[in-house]
Amino acid sequence: MRRKIIAANWKMNMTQNESDSYLDTFLREVAEEKRVDIVLVPPFTALSHVSQRLNNVQNVKLGAQNMHWEKGGAFTGEISAAMIRELFARYVILGHSERRTLFGETDETVNRKTKVAHEGSLKPIVCIGETLTERDANQVEQVLEKQLRGSLAGLDAKALTETVLAYEPVWAIGTGRTATPEQAQAAHAFIRKVLAEMSDAATADKVRIQYGGSVKPGNTAELMSQPDIDGALVGGASLVARDFAEIIKLTAAL
Ligand code: 13P
Repeated sequence: MRRKIIAANWKMNMTQNESDSYLDTFLREVAEEKRVDIVLVPPFTALSHVSQRLNNVQNVKLGAQNMHWEKGGAFTGEISAAMIRELFARYVILGHSERRTLFGETDETVNRKTKVAHEGSLKPIVCIGETLTERDANQVEQVLEKQLRGSLAGLDAKALTETVLAYEPVWAIGTGRTATPEQAQAAHAFIRKVLAEMSDAATADKVRIQYGGSVKPGNTAELMSQPDIDGALVGGASLVARDFAEIIKLTAAL
């Protein structure tokens, strides 16, 4: 049985001040929840602050939204794995579609980052997903396979099982348009099939695959009850403490 993992991608939202009132509500709401893995992913500027607030909290983990592949040096504006790890973050989102489309990330850079994340004891959450044009052209499987093989090239079985994947169809992100449970399940099953080809069936069976794209309390249960959907990467709805807590509780109750 794969343990479900629900992560909040706050994107470029939430000052330290704002995170305080969020956490006052959120931590109270999920205080007793131990059945699923919970991850908060603030912007870099709030990471240290949220980390301190999570100091005595066992059931909520921390992640970063991006990372550079070098250990240090002249890379203005970039953040290394060690810098993230120092703040007690355990996860890092890599290759989010916004980074791929707006900031020029490629499967190759995501692959370099994924390897460095593992070396730095961070669990990568590697995002993949097709655009609407690609879906309309019946290229979903082709696109997912290319992103998977490119982004995860060279990872051994152990690294693969410690990688979380996030299937985020680009047309469902921030649009209010969610993939149907059937569309999402089909994509997740296909991803697992490719993972089995890249390693073996037992390894592929252990990899957790999140769904992301307009997840909200109202569609959580039907998405999270699909056999190959192992959690959610939540954007917009994760900015409202009660909604995000509700998504977690609905998933835990399944
Ligand atoms: P929304 O939940 O706002 O659609 O964003 C999804 C996402 O991109 C999470 O990484």
